Amino acid sequence: MNTRAFALSISITILTGCSEEEPTVPGEALYAVHCIACHGSDGISGHGTDLDDVVPSASNEELTDVITFGIGDMPAIDITDQEALDIVSYLRALFP
Ligand code: HEC
Repeated sequence: MNTRAFALSISITILTGCSEEEPTVPGEALYAVHCIACHGSDGISGHGTDLDDVVPSASNEELTDVITFGIGDMPAIDITDQEALDIVSYLRALFP
């Protein structure tokens, strides 16, 4: 986890009063299940595209399309549009 992601999770923990072990936002838990294997826990250490390069300049629709339809070597991820949006919200918090 990079410093910014760590600081973010701490501030989310403080804001919500949840313990560190529990997923604090729905997108974080969904990311862990569907994306970590290829993009890493910090979004930049996996073999997939470094997400800090693409998320800030992409629209929500572009990102949810990538997630639900796949792109290049990335397979389509079988989740609902709402789950894809939840993941995008989480990524926006990580990579504003
Ligand atoms: C099986 C591995 C794998 C999984 C799982 C995966 N990705 Fe990817 N992802 C990739 C690869 C590989 C690329 C690079 C695709 C290419 O350009 O060929 C990529 C690219 C991307 C991109 C950049 C697309 C662009 O416009 O260039 C985004 C954003 C992204 N992934 C988000 C996600 C999210 C969010 C999840 C979870 C819902 C996810 N990925 C799950 C492998 C994966």
